[in-house]
Amino acid sequence: MTSQFLAYVAISAFCVLKASSLDTFIAAVYEHAVILPNATLTPVSREEALELMSQNLDVLEGAITAAAKQGAHIIVTPEDAIYGWNFSRETLYPYLEDIPDPQVNWIPCNDPNRFGHTPVQERLSCLAKNNSIYVVANIGDKKSCNTSDPQCPPDGRYQYNTDVVFDSQGKLVARYHKQNLFMGEDQFNLPKEPEVVTFNTTFGRFGIFTCFDILFHDPAITLVKDFHVDTILFPTAWMNVLPLLSAIEFHSAWAMGTGVNFLASNIHYPSKNMTGSGIYAPDSPRAFHYDMKTEKGKLLLAQLDSHPYHPVVANWTAYASSTEALSRGNKEFKSILFFDEFTFVELTGAMGNYTVCQKDLCCHLSYKMSEKRSDEVYALGAFDGLHIVEGRYYLQICTLLKCATNDLNTCGDPVETASTTFEMFSLSGTFETQHVFPEVLLSEIQLAPGEFQVSSDGRLFSLKPISAPVLTATLFGRWYEKDGALNVSSALTAQALIIMLIVITPIVYSIYW
Ligand SMILES: *[C@@H]1O[C@H](CO)[C@@H](O)[C@H](O)[C@H]1NC(C)=O
Ligand SMILES: *[C@@H]1O[C@H](CO)[C@@H](O)[C@H](O)[C@H]1NC(C)=O
Ligand SMILES: *[C@@H]1O[C@H](CO)[C@@H](O)[C@H](O)[C@H]1NC(C)=O
Ligand SMILES: *[C@@H]1O[C@H](CO)[C@@H](O)[C@H](O)[C@H]1NC(C)=O
Ligand SMILES: *[C@@H]1O[C@H](CO)[C@@H](O)[C@H](O)[C@H]1NC(C)=O
Ligand SMILES: *[C@@H]1O[C@H](CO)[C@@H](O)[C@H](O)[C@H]1NC(C)=O
Ligand SMILES: *[C@@H]1O[C@H](CO)[C@@H](O)[C@H](O)[C@H]1NC(C)=O
Ligand SMILES: *[C@@H]1O[C@H](CO)[C@@H](O)[C@H](O)[C@H]1NC(C)=O
Repeated sequence: MTSQFLAYVAISAFCVLKASSLDTFIAAVYEHAVILPNATLTPVSREEALELMSQNLDVLEGAITAAAKQGAHIIVTPEDAIYGWNFSRETLYPYLEDIPDPQVNWIPCNDPNRFGHTPVQERLSCLAKNNSIYVVANIGDKKSCNTSDPQCPPDGRYQYNTDVVFDSQGKLVARYHKQNLFMGEDQFNLPKEPEVVTFNTTFGRFGIFTCFDILFHDPAITLVKDFHVDTILFPTAWMNVLPLLSAIEFHSAWAMGTGVNFLASNIHYPSKNMTGSGIYAPDSPRAFHYDMKTEKGKLLLAQLDSHPYHPVVANWTAYASSTEALSRGNKEFKSILFFDEFTFVELTGAMGNYTVCQKDLCCHLSYKMSEKRSDEVYALGAFDGLHIVEGRYYLQICTLLKCATNDLNTCGDPVETASTTFEMFSLSGTFETQHVFPEVLLSEIQLAPGEFQVSSDGRLFSLKPISAPVLTATLFGRWYEKDGALNVSSALTAQALIIMLIVITPIVYSIYW
């Protein structure tokens, strides 16, 4: 008995010691085919709202228990996964719960009535506790207010798009109110100050933000640069936009560009172009999923380093600014990519070296195709300007892409398939920002794990012949400091500018309200 007991003590001491710090952990993300409420102009009852949320939670429960059985330490579920979308302030209200500040030290599963009627938080907490797994979810928070607060909305409450995290004991350890609401998210308020939310675990330090937040400096870049998180948790309801903003493409690029792990969990709703989830390490995706064909959810698991070591590219402009302009003999042309006018040159041969510039950004490309096909056109493009449609953000972009057809006016249009394979490419640009996200997207919306790299002098280059035809290889730069700039892309004429301002101003206003 005694020796058995001692052995037991020794083993548990070892486990405790081991549990104090893990070198690796298993991450899970779930792409959820959300059950939407019926569209309504009048609010449903609280009971009906709970009934709908409980249907979604039943599905999430299956994913959480399956992930835990396979050893996952943490699982991320999508934005809007519990109640869907298309709400007004009033019709959303029955779905909301008051979510306390995690400092209150609360395990809803053990103490469900401490903060009023909170069955959704209780259920999530119990799922975390019962399965001994961190659970990340997106729900709605409500905070009542009154005239003592001059900003209090007329209906007497704030409503927030909110991420919550319950630890493996079921304790609420994080609450994050989304900062960058997407256009049309009028049912929610902005937090008074941008929130930077982190928490520590035995498998690294975590930060969290939501969907559209990924395009902006706060809190996303602050979490990485100032709070040194190892892993970002990212619930999203992401509508894919080709060629540069498909979920798996951009989210994996963000992980590589910032040097952190990134756990992206998307809604599965193909008719709105919502699919694409993944577990991305800085050097390469570990798992990803893209499925426009079925209506099914999908659980992904992968092992990650708790503290990914990744020397974030020191200097994005070093190579390009030390390089002479390559061939600029080809005629330049302009074409629109997601409302922005890029300057392009066509790649006319099976191999070559090209430069194209727009404003202060020059992009250099060296490439070799397996063969130059007559039925496909590729182009090298540059864009240096303020994007103002569906959000306002300053971009510097160098992109090698397949044009949708042989008509050069379709360069920049969405295209999903290609037949041209590349034996090598090397892309660089004279970026004036340090925030550049390297993207490579292959035919049929696939990633290319382990097939490319970024060098310390700022080149995105293939490590070997690319395993499938290429849709795009892109350096997607964000120049956050210039988001407030008043001047729109100089390529626009004054007339176009006026028309765009008339059309766009109400949209921009609704985003920043
Ligand atoms: C939506 O309405 C239909 C028809 O009234 C009903 O059968 C269905 O259960 C409703 N769905 C939800 C999620 O309430
Ligand atoms: C949103 O709700 C309105 C009615 O409230 C409905 O007409 C519209 O079709 C809904 N849109 C989507 C995408 O569900
Ligand atoms: C958690 O476990 C308890 C007791 O084992 C059970 O009553 C409860 O229904 C479980 N809750 C969830 C959400 O799994
Ligand atoms: C107004 O709100 C403040 C702060 O939330 C609270 O202390 C106060 O009691 C409220 N006043 C009324 C009249 O509800
Ligand atoms: C996490 O741990 C670090 C020290 O390792 C500390 O500086 C930081 O405040 C902790 N963060 C939280 C949210 O507890
Ligand atoms: C989905 O994306 C395709 C192009 O990739 C586009 O033609 C279509 O309009 C998009 N659908 C929606 C609902 O946005
Ligand atoms: C990056 O490289 C360029 C060209 O070599 C150099 O002028 C610049 O100072 C470097 N920037 C940084 C931040 O090191
Ligand atoms: C492109 O430039 C590289 C050196 O940078 C050179 O080796 C290669 O021959 C050039 N290719 C063409 C087709 O000009």
